[in-house]
Order: sequence, then structure tokens, then C-alpha cells
Amino acid sequence: MVDYLMGASAPCSDETYDVLIAKVLKFEAGNPALRDWDSPTTHVIAPSQEAFGTRRHSSPMLSLANAYSGEELDEWEAGLRRLLPNAAPTYRAELKIDGLAVAVHYAQGQLAYAVTRGDGTVGEDVTRNIKTIRGLPHNLAEPLTLEVRGEVYYSLSNFATLNQERERLGEPQFKNPRNAAAGTLRMQDTTEVGQRALNIFLYGLSSPHGLPTHSEAMTWLKVLGLPTEEHARHFESLEQLKQFYEEWKTRRGELDFQIDGIVVKVDELALRDQLGSTSKSPRWAVALKFSAEQASTVLKDLEIGVGRTGVLTPIALLEPVQLAGTTVSRATLHNYDQIGRLHLKLGDVVYLEKGGDIIPKVIGVDIQARATGTRQEILPPKHCPSCGNAVVSLEGEVDLYCVNPLCPHQRAERIRHFVSRRAMDIESLGPALIEQLLGRNLIATFADLYCLEATQLAELDRMAEKSAANVIAAIEASKTRPLDRFIFGLGIRYVGERAARVLARHFKSLDALQEAAVEDLTDINDIGAVTARSLHAFISDDAQWGLVQDALRAGVNPSPIEDGGGAATALTGKAVVITGTLSISRGRWKTMLENAGATVTGSVSKKTGYVLAGANPGSKLDAAERLAVPVIDEDEMTRLLET
Ligand code: IVH
Repeated sequence: MVDYLMGASAPCSDETYDVLIAKVLKFEAGNPALRDWDSPTTHVIAPSQEAFGTRRHSSPMLSLANAYSGEELDEWEAGLRRLLPNAAPTYRAELKIDGLAVAVHYAQGQLAYAVTRGDGTVGEDVTRNIKTIRGLPHNLAEPLTLEVRGEVYYSLSNFATLNQERERLGEPQFKNPRNAAAGTLRMQDTTEVGQRALNIFLYGLSSPHGLPTHSEAMTWLKVLGLPTEEHARHFESLEQLKQFYEEWKTRRGELDFQIDGIVVKVDELALRDQLGSTSKSPRWAVALKFSAEQASTVLKDLEIGVGRTGVLTPIALLEPVQLAGTTVSRATLHNYDQIGRLHLKLGDVVYLEKGGDIIPKVIGVDIQARATGTRQEILPPKHCPSCGNAVVSLEGEVDLYCVNPLCPHQRAERIRHFVSRRAMDIESLGPALIEQLLGRNLIATFADLYCLEATQLAELDRMAEKSAANVIAAIEASKTRPLDRFIFGLGIRYVGERAARVLARHFKSLDALQEAAVEDLTDINDIGAVTARSLHAFISDDAQWGLVQDALRAGVNPSPIEDGGGAATALTGKAVVITGTLSISRGRWKTMLENAGATVTGSVSKKTGYVLAGANPGSKLDAAERLAVPVIDEDEMTRLLET
């Protein structure tokens, strides 16, 4: 059939060609096994009418489904497990290169032709330009016939050179390496394409060639001399794979090419066959993308924030940039350790991300964009910017601290925290009022709030009798806030809302909490050793606990925390992990369990009391079995809730 069409020496008319091609297509549809790699249906169609001829792909070039978080990745895996209830897939994670997809065909070991993705069914023949890519061999070590797929891209260094040259010539700059690669690949002047130096990474082999896994296929391609990306890794479980994702989120600036996420692929090719594809994307792979809410900008200067625990947080002052709908000019850098790890200097281009918090974070640095000469070293502070005390670093901690308990900034931050909505919720006591109260020595600690009188407040700026009375009433109302909020409000390092709730449920009173030894604290589910030590240091410090007693003497009387009607249930103090598909939402289960005195946690450890497992429970079940944690279903959990 192929010879019939391709070997014909006399040229045929377009009409004849169309009739013959239709016959071949029909024949191939009915006899897929007899389809030749060199079939004219995959060959250049009407090259004379277009800049580039087009070719039909041997199988559709699909796209990838996207995920943006670990949870979405878990959902993808839950879907796989529904389709493969008895299989245990493993995964390969690859960097997701931001370029253009191409299919490259080798025939008897020679680079035969290359096609862009196009509409997924038919793409443009870019063979001549692809052949200019230096890392892509024209001849394989063996006379093999195969199709490989991959991504054509610009290295950032080549991209920078290209744009510099365009600037010199007064030509418009390419916006990003991806656009530049797309433009270059479609250029008519092959010599110019060669000078521009495109790159390629191959990430797929179209048929298995007897290999059982994708990882082995990739190793084979490498052995054949084909360019593959070296940071890809194999994972037995998604938990470890998520660390790979987090790692590359911050390390992406170290690469000489742009990535926009990672691609997670089922490694076993037989399982891939069973999973198949939707019309748009294969079910066996997912793109785990970096958040869309990211931007990059120049780090202009640094400010030092002093927290309530004395921790000094470097704050990045930035060239304003648009991020998720707002203009951002400040972002937190976690600590000086992060600055060191990123070798960050003023003048660097940094990556920002807006997570759940309102304040964006600096998550990485663009190493390629470093302009030599204009960067300025960042030195850790020697003195607290608020009180001038010498800065200290505590053993085993990356943060720097001001340990002066009288540091004005710390004091203000501690009181702000105590009155905040999630702690004692004294709304009318705003930051400006706290500042005035501290400034006029009317208060020094949170306990002093309970000794304030309306007449003292009425004398302050922007205060009248009525507003002063309102503030006093709000302070009064806070006296009986639940115990967990009071504990959280104390601002003890590592004691967040959840730990405070656990402690309030466990000890039920401040007296009982104060008598706890470190071991009593570590024995509690969900209280780790670090939290226990920090808490113990607080309760045994006379000055700190003295303030708690001052507050109690002034009438503070926290109310006991509700735990399923007050009585201990079978779930009181138990940590529960929820996994699999349940008949009601996870959120509702969480509320019911928390109301019964349990805490709901994300991962299984030896401290886990129960694993609540729905359908297709996934890897958490394996962990529970390994650690001998009881696994129960929804009916059983309902019975426990009722006891
Ligand atoms: S696998 C069915 N692996 O991302 C498609 N794609 O957003 C299988 N890409 O069209 C593709 N790096 O062009 C795969 N390591 C990688 C990739 C990768 C970049 C591109 C590819 C794809 C697009 C989907």
C-alpha cells in the first residue's frame, strides 16, 4: 500500500491523491496492525500550499490534566485506585518543561521527521528546524524505528542572548522563552534557527518496545543517546513525591530552563494501558503545577519584623508587582537561614507566592537573572531594631531572636495576639489603642488589661466616655472565653489553636495544666516533644505564669471547653485520620469528631487513635496496618460517637 502511493513515479492529481489517501485511511482503520510507520497518512500533506507541511500523528498528542496541590494529587490517585482496585502503581515525577511538544520519528536509526503537537491530531512538519538542535542525534546507536515525544525549549542563557541581540538590532523582545521557542521553530531560515540554538528534552516513547516501565524506557532513550531530563525520579508513594514537588517549587530558579510544575506519571506501562485516556488527556498522568498565584520581582531592601516571641523575621521590600489581583511590595522571607540557602542579595529577582496567608512569601530566587555587580550582600542583624538588645540564635533553631522580655515591639505584639479574634476576641482594642496604653504605661502585659478603668481610657486620644465604656465592657466579656482561647492567647511558642484545644480538653483547668510534667505533656496525642518542652518552660517560669495568675486574680475565669456535651467519649483525646471516599463530606466528619473530643490529623503515625476508612482508602491504610492503628468504617465510627 505504501509502495503503491509513495513509490509511484508519475505525479498524480490532487483529486486522485485524495481518493487514494481515503482508501489507505479506510484500510488502516480496519487493519490497525498492518499500519506502516511510514504510511502516507502520517506524511506531509500539501507541502506546497503552506509554510510547513502538516502530518497526522500516529496517535493523538494529548494534553495533561492539572492539579495544583497535594490534596488534588491525592484525588487523582483516588481516581486511579477506583479504576485499578487491585494494583499498586508506582510513580515517576518529571520536571514540567515550559516549551512546545513535538513528536520525533526515527526510521532504521535515522531521524526521519518531527511534528509539532498542532491540534493533537495533525501537526506541522518541523523536521529541518528540529535537525538543528545540537543535543538531538540524527543517527541512533542502533537501526531502530521508533517515535519519541518531548519538549522543545530555550535555555534561559540562550534566551537572554537572543533577546540581547534583538535589542541591539532594535527588534521587539520575546516575552518569554516559550514564545521565543515557538517563533524559532516555525522560522523558514534554518541557518538562523541553528544559530539560535534551541534545546529539547524527550519525555515519552510512543510504544513500549518490550519495556515494562516508563523509567526503563527513559533510561533506554538515554542509552541510545537521546536527551532526557536528569532530575526525574521514581517514587513508591505520593507522600515522598510531594516533597519533590515542594523542593522544585523553590529550586526552580537554579535551572537553566523554565518549568511550570512537575508531571506525575504511573510508571508501569501495563497499568497505563488499563487506565487509558479521556478525549483530552491520559488518566495515567497529571501535571502538578506550581500555583498560578506566583510572580517574580526585584528585591530592593529588607526590613526586620519583631514577633511576639522575639523572633526576628526578615521582610522583603520589593519592586511593586501584580500578584493574584493585588499589587505586592512586601513579602516575608522566612528567616535568615532561607536568605543563606538562596544566597539572596539585594538586587536579586525573587519568586513570590500567595498561599493561604494574606502576606505573600518569597519562595525562590531567579539565579539566571542575576545581574552581576549590582547585588548587595545581606547581613543578619546584630541588634534588635526595636529595643537595640543584642540578637541571639538559640540552639537547634534557624531563627534569630531578641530575648529582651521588655522589648516594646514584642510586648505590643503579645498583647495584640492576646486580644485577637481567634484568641480572647476583644475587638475594640485595636493596635493604635494598645500602642497608646503601652506608651502611657497604663499597661505592660495582657494581665494589666483587666485592671484598666473607663476613666483612664476616656483620657486617651480619640476616646470618649462612651467608647471607653465599650472597651471596658469588651474586656469584661472576655473574662469567660473558653479555656482553649485563653491558652492560645498566651502566645506560647509552638502552641497554636489546635494544641491549645487539645490541652484545654485534656487538662480542663489552668491549675491542672500548671502541674503537668514534660512527660505528661508528651504523652498527649498531638502534642509533640518540641511543643511539650516549650509549654513546660512557660508554665514553670514564675514571671510568665505569674501573669496568668494576675489575670485570674483580676477576675479572668475561662470556661471549660465543650467536648461532646462535657462527658468524655470513646474518642476524647484521640487523633483520627480520615481516608477514602465517605458517604458524608470529610468536613462534616471532622466537625462531628472534634465535637466528640477527637482531633483530626492528616497523616498516620503511632499516635493515631483510629483511621476512619471509606471506599478506596489508599496508602494511609497501608501505614495504619504497618503501625497497627485500628482501622474502622463509618458505621463503627458512628457507634463510637454514640458511646
Ligand atoms: S508527558 C499526554 N512530560 O506539558 C501528554 N509532558 O501541559 C503527555 N510537558 O503537552 C505529556 N514537560 O508538552 C510530559 N515531563 C513532561 C513534560 C510534559 C512538559 C508538556 C507537554 C504537554 C504539556 C501539558
